[in-house]
Formats: sequence, structure tokens, C-alpha cells
Amino acid sequence: MSSNETSFDTDTVDIGYVMETARAAGVRAIQMAESMAPEFKSDHSYVTNIDRETEQFVRARLEARYPNYAFLGEEYGRHGDSDAPLWAVDPIDGTTNMVFGLPLWCVSIGLIADGRAQAGAVYLPRTDEMFSGVRGQGSYCNGVRLEAKDRETIHIEDTLGFTSRAIQYLDTSVLPGRLRCLGSIATDIVYAARGTLCCLIGMHEGAYDIAAALCIAHEAGCTAAYLTGELLDIDTIVREGRTSAPFAIAPPRFLSQLQAQLHPR
Ligand code: IPD
Ligand code: CA
Ligand code: CA
Repeated sequence: MSSNETSFDTDTVDIGYVMETARAAGVRAIQMAESMAPEFKSDHSYVTNIDRETEQFVRARLEARYPNYAFLGEEYGRHGDSDAPLWAVDPIDGTTNMVFGLPLWCVSIGLIADGRAQAGAVYLPRTDEMFSGVRGQGSYCNGVRLEAKDRETIHIEDTLGFTSRAIQYLDTSVLPGRLRCLGSIATDIVYAARGTLCCLIGMHEGAYDIAAALCIAHEAGCTAAYLTGELLDIDTIVREGRTSAPFAIAPPRFLSQLQAQLHPR
């Protein structure tokens, strides 16, 4: 088998079920909004009862349908066989937005097997946007096929998405374009897949943050690579826990511009 082939059969993924799970989890999260109880984790980031309950809900749904698959969630960690296909789930990506009442947060469910993000659903309940993708079968938002548009240059009106860590670490003064920091990496990446953002630049993200959105972005024609050039490898991110350096997700020629121009402050 060449390194470009994989043996995982994507026909075994019931993406409709994964989307239903993400949607039901998002609707439940909104219903729980009035009883939301935020607290700080040891790293001073927010977590709420909604994050924890949503992860348990998603895990139970996925285990009922895929009892032999493993599971990695942000709040309760990893369970199951290390050789099995792995659900990588961020129950709520954008918790800070949710706590402050900003509408951009989502439920993110990705599937990793054979070293690749094979499928994913990202649902934003406040805007009712459902993004989904399966490797080799394209990606969609609310039924519309996604196709990222590539170009050689960055225009001054292009929307450039950053996470807050990346925008603080990198010298963004060299870039033309409108900087945007939306507060949810999974949203950033699927918006880059749709062209709502022209790119996303992030750093220090976990597999559960990005697996679903990576599949959706790849299927839309985006590439995910570190600014140094190396492609993001989801198995390495699972093993090491986080991405290792600043990275960008964009159509390939646009990505090259970012790699050439962006450096640490
Ligand atoms: C965070 C958000 C944020 C990104 C952070 C993530 P959370 O996820 O995606 O945009 O900059 O690195 O940890 O904590 O809301 O799941
Ligand atoms: Ca997250
Ligand atoms: Ca989260």
C-alpha cells in the first residue's frame, strides 16, 4: 500500500448519524443555557456543565452506533482500543464565546483512522450552520458543497482568521488583509473551507479541536501545514497532544503566501 492509500472504508461512516448527533448536542446545549455554570480549569480557561454534559451525550450516541471505536474528548480524555478508529470530539469549541453570549461556538465531531481525518461534523447551533465532510466525498454546509477559492496574493480586504494565541505570537503587521479572531478554532477552519475566512492561522491546538474541521477543509480544497512547510499530521497531534508550532489552513497558493510572510514577532 502506498503512503497515499488507506484501508479505512469511509462507507462505514454514517455521516447522517454523526450530523444528527452534533445537531442534537447543539440544541441541547442551547436548552441548558439558563443553567450554565462556568468555572475555570487549571489552565485558567473556561469550562461549564454544558461542556461536560455535551461530551457525555455525544460519547453515548457514538458508542451506541460504533461500540468498537475509541473516543477522545476534551473534558474526559481518551477511552478504548488504541488501534481502533478514534472519535475526536470537542463538545463545545468556543466555550468563552458561549459564556459571554457570543454566538460563534460549535459541537465538533471528527473521526480519525489510518492516520487521517476521515469524517467530521461541526454544528453551530446559534447560527444553525451544519458543516460536514467525508474523505473523498466532499464537504458541505447546510447541503451546499464547499469549494475554497485559491489565489496568488493576499488582498487588503481578505479576511484572515487567527486564534488569539497565534495573533499574539506572530508579527501580523506584515500582512495585508483584515484580521479576524472569532474565538472558535473549529469554526475558523470550517469558515476557511467555505471561504468566509480566506484562511485560519492557529497554534497549540488539540486533535479534538481540529479533526472534524480538518476533514471538511481538506475536502473543500484547503491544505493544513505549519508555517515552516510541514503538513499537519493528525496521528502526531493525537500522540503529542497538540500541534507543535504555528500552522495555517487555506487553499494551497494562499497558504504559500502566509508561509512566506508570517514569522514570530
Ligand atoms: C478554544 C477555542 C479558541 C482557540 C483555543 C481553543 P475551547 O477551544 O477554539 O478559539 O484559540 O486554542 O482551546 O476551549 O473553547 O474548546
Ligand atoms: Ca476547543
Ligand atoms: Ca472545548
